[in-house]
Amino acid sequence: MQHFISPTDVTDIHALIKQGLYVKANPFEDAHLGKNKTIGLIFFNSSLRTRLSTQKAAQNLGMNVMIMNVGQDSWGLEMEEMIEGHPVIMNGDKAEHVKEAAAVIGRYCDVIGIRAFAELKDRDKDYRELVMSQFRKYAGVPIVNLESATRHPLQSLADCITIAEAKAAYAMLARPKVVLTWLPHFKALPQAVANSFCEWMNPLANAGEIEFVVTHPPGYELAPEYLGNARVEYDQEKAFEGADFIYGKNWSSYTHYGQVLTQNPAWMVTMDKMQLTNNGKFMHCLPVRRNVKVSDDVLDSPQSLVIEQAANREWSAQAVLKEILLTL
Ligand code: CP
Repeated sequence: MQHFISPTDVTDIHALIKQGLYVKANPFEDAHLGKNKTIGLIFFNSSLRTRLSTQKAAQNLGMNVMIMNVGQDSWGLEMEEMIEGHPVIMNGDKAEHVKEAAAVIGRYCDVIGIRAFAELKDRDKDYRELVMSQFRKYAGVPIVNLESATRHPLQSLADCITIAEAKAAYAMLARPKVVLTWLPHFKALPQAVANSFCEWMNPLANAGEIEFVVTHPPGYELAPEYLGNARVEYDQEKAFEGADFIYGKNWSSYTHYGQVLTQNPAWMVTMDKMQLTNNGKFMHCLPVRRNVKVSDDVLDSPQSLVIEQAANREWSAQAVLKEILLTL
């Protein structure tokens, strides 16, 4: 694997899920692979899980780790090269251009991880994935997506690992029903986690390994290129019937870009709704606001997989870094 920015960088999703399960069982087997190799973790936004799990995974592989918060620890970075057909004039608050910054970081690091969320102001700009593509263009080393404007693939890989484990641990049906449900929230959040979850679930659904349903209020339709052929059900309770996995996430509107169209609390996941499922497991990427998106009794129940899911972030990162290190 040369980069890990989107699923198109992965030749075999099933093999990568298996690699995640393998490194979880054998965490220090490849400690020699990263010897004298350095990963730089570059954060444009806050993080708990991504920051710590990727650092831990890199250390398990014997890598050195450097972390930088852009704008706090470093200069603000200009990403654009042209504005309205003219070369960008850097007379604003961004003191350094990504052309130099990415190239310099690429001299210090063998792999670079980047987190840069959607700004939710300009849909075309966000969906162009400018930060990822500029680092890929100018760093000269493999790039790992730590959550970009439209995707969070390390999260989705951890979700796949968690589902595979739960299928085996709870002796589930060969083709469990997985439901992605929109959750209410007062803040506008990006579509990245939901987009990515669809991108990673659709190949499993197409292979007949899961049934995949997406449920949300009207106006929260995901971009067609991410939704793929997932079935959309606007009635949340109907979607929950017989589900084996409920994956909760809030996202802002794609069609009315970045807007919060409703905060309807009736979309919160409660134990009453979980009773409609097939003793289903609850998943969420975290952080989660209790009793806004999900009730305490669901999060604190044995049906919740959220901690195991977060723990699996270490193994998704380790599987990806191992594949990249094998190519260096
Ligand atoms: N799920 C996730 O990416 O968590 P952080 O934002 O804390 O990294």
